[in-house]
Amino acid sequence: MSPRTVFITGSNRGIGLGLVRELLKDKEIETLIAGARNIDAAKDLQDLAKSDSRLHLISVDVSCDESLQKALKEIEGLVDDRGLNLLINNAAICPPYRTIDPPNRAVVLECLNVNAVGALVTAQLFLPLLRKAAAHTPGSTFSASKAAILNVGSDSGFA
Ligand SMILES: NC(=O)c1ccc[n+]([C@@H]2O[C@H](COP(=O)([O-])OP(=O)(O)OC[C@H]3O[C@@H](n4cnc5c(N)ncnc54)[C@H](OP(=O)(O)O)[C@@H]3O)[C@@H](O)[C@H]2O)c1
Repeated sequence: MSPRTVFITGSNRGIGLGLVRELLKDKEIETLIAGARNIDAAKDLQDLAKSDSRLHLISVDVSCDESLQKALKEIEGLVDDRGLNLLINNAAICPPYRTIDPPNRAVVLECLNVNAVGALVTAQLFLPLLRKAAAHTPGSTFSASKAAILNVGSDSGFA
């Protein structure tokens, strides 16, 4: 069974945009919410949303609590009683950084802030919506059709 409601961060390009395209092929998904830092510039997402009313675009910066809170409010309205079945923490940065280069604490901290803390805080904020979705699905089996958080990451991304 597929999730009914999905939210994915950092979905205006790269793997996130690819995931949006793939998820839209699943007709059992009722509401797909694509997050991007700059919705106005997200032309590919806008084109997809024009041809599929299940796709909703919201502005979100995972390094900003205020932005996350605003996104949460919007998403609560979109999913309503269904809650959120699947949160995909995809947003990340990976600036060039090599151990042999001069140290740059600011770059490392920004990576940790976006890639690790951003995913953690997003998961914490959306937990009530995930719990709401889980309550609709009987049984104890773990699955994205019940409620799940998918963290996309890599060693070099610190997450
Ligand atoms: N590509 C790879 O080879 C690879 C390998 C292993 C793991 N991964 C993981 O896969 C995921 C996606 O990677 P990708 O290659 O698709 O990266 P990408 O092309 O650089 O895309 C990153 C996405 O994250 C968004 N983003 C960056 N900072 C953000 C923030 N503070 N708040 C919200 N969104 C933010 C970007 O938005 P903007 O357009 O606004 O910058 C963009 O949409 C990442 O988690 C990465 O660690 C990638």
